[in-house]
Amino acid sequence: MSRIYLSPPHMGAAERDLLLSAYDSNWIAPLGPNVDGFERELAVATGASHCAALSSGTAALHLALILLGVGPGDRVIGPTFTFAATVNPVAYQRAELILCDADPGSWNLDPARLEEALAWCDADGRLPKAIIAVDLYGQAADWDSIREVAARYGVPTIEDAAAALGATYKGRPAGGLADFGAVSFNGNKIITTSGGGALLSDRGDAIALARKLSTQARDDAPHYEHTLIGYNYRLSNLLAAVGRGQLQVLADRVAARRANFAAYVDGLSDLPGIGFHPEASTGVCNRWLSCVTIDPARFGADREDVRKALLAQDIESRPLWKPMHQQPVFAGVRVFGGEVAAGLFDHGLALPSGSSLTRDDLDRVIAAFRACRS
Ligand SMILES: Cc1ncc(COP(=O)(O)O)c(C=O)c1O
Repeated sequence: MSRIYLSPPHMGAAERDLLLSAYDSNWIAPLGPNVDGFERELAVATGASHCAALSSGTAALHLALILLGVGPGDRVIGPTFTFAATVNPVAYQRAELILCDADPGSWNLDPARLEEALAWCDADGRLPKAIIAVDLYGQAADWDSIREVAARYGVPTIEDAAAALGATYKGRPAGGLADFGAVSFNGNKIITTSGGGALLSDRGDAIALARKLSTQARDDAPHYEHTLIGYNYRLSNLLAAVGRGQLQVLADRVAARRANFAAYVDGLSDLPGIGFHPEASTGVCNRWLSCVTIDPARFGADREDVRKALLAQDIESRPLWKPMHQQPVFAGVRVFGGEVAAGLFDHGLALPSGSSLTRDDLDRVIAAFRACRS
């Protein structure tokens, strides 16, 4: 029996052909027709007017903060229940991070906690320069509520849609729901370029500046002239070719991942103490990762028992994100709430979720999971 991975790449013939033809054309640099084409196609897929293709989702988040003028000592509000890459760029900019808890109904940033944090910042006389919210595990956050609270305080928003391509919120695609959007094409994402990302916005001037900053901030001169500090953050034309092929099958990948989730609900929901990542009525989750919660008192085993039992059968699973306020590297950071995120970490597990899983694979995972009870 072969190993079942959490979220492996799922590649097709189209991206292979596009990659080889980019190679043969000698457009090997981080510029070329596939970078331009990928940007156009991503803008369409996310409903944003402009797009800069970058080397990672983290780079996109970092540039979004820079474009919003976040610098040393500035405040940025972000979610505690997320992957560290969401908030690491706040530290890159030497800004002050303030964390908010998750909403138990969606696991995304709780707009009520955001409101509390903004009111506190206001009373303290220093509002944040940006708010970051994540479309967690491929489900869009409650962007209308978040943007409404943010607008009341005049603070711009950044959507970490790293894992949410193909998801929707009130019929609108993830990635284009805030002032800036960041997506990721890391190897474990719903579509991948091996590594890569993109920054999205309706602000054409900002995206033009992002392109400049991502290519070492060269000024318009025949020699090397710099008036800004730049970064080496642009996406390779070869990887953009892979991304264009992957983007063609995004809808199929979402359907396959949603089918995985449905199979787990079907195969596990009769077990006592098992819960599932709730899907908000406001949108369609792409089910990047199929996540469950395990109440040990009712199920008879905890999430570590289950994770280890699956591993013993060569099945990879992962605890849900460990909250940022519990991470040693963010010790002492101010957090509004935190109990919801802590509970999800204690009890939550992400099951194998790849779009190439077979029915036999799913049955193997379900059988191994069920066996933990006996
Ligand atoms: C929620 C979240 N934000 C940001 C990132 C960072 O993306 P990348 O790996 O492309 O830098 C990831 C994935 O890695 C992620 O899951």
